[in-house]
Amino acid sequence: MSKHLVLVGMMGSGKTTVGRWLHGETRLPLVDTDALIEERTGMTVSQIFEKEKEPWFRQREKEVVHELIQGPASIISTGGGLFLDGDNRRNLCSNGEVFYLRASAEELAKRTRKASHRPLLHGEDHLSKLRIMLQDRQRYYEDGTHPIDIGGRPVASIGREILALYRKTP
Ligand code: S3P
Repeated sequence: MSKHLVLVGMMGSGKTTVGRWLHGETRLPLVDTDALIEERTGMTVSQIFEKEKEPWFRQREKEVVHELIQGPASIISTGGGLFLDGDNRRNLCSNGEVFYLRASAEELAKRTRKASHRPLLHGEDHLSKLRIMLQDRQRYYEDGTHPIDIGGRPVASIGREILALYRKTP
């Protein structure tokens, strides 16, 4: 198994939790792109958005993708906006199997109610924001990926579906 296993999807879709489960099963290294950027910059994602602004953060994401695809096969759990970038999509799809954790805006709203660490969800009307964001982003998330419906499912069931697909691919 030399391909990366990549998780993409909206904030609150469970990438971190599913990534941890997959790591437990496979012992492949687990990398979370947000956590890696936070570690390297010494700032939280919220602090980065406030001080350096979003384009700066997106540039850090591109650098991280570039670097990770050259490393050993890993589980890469991505920040929700990372896969919207065309270079990131190409790099990840050609060096790994990419799984889109798909959920409705309503489901995501429930799961991100306490979203203080997510700058893009700050403020009023959480659900409307998620609906608009999902509508804009869905086509990118579905580009070259395996969509996995997560609604109401336990993490192990989602993880097992992903692993079966990952192991089936060359
Ligand atoms: C973002 C999602 C966040 C984080 C940043 C931007 C997005 O990651 O990268 O706040 O654009 O959807 P999670 O999906 O892990 O919350």
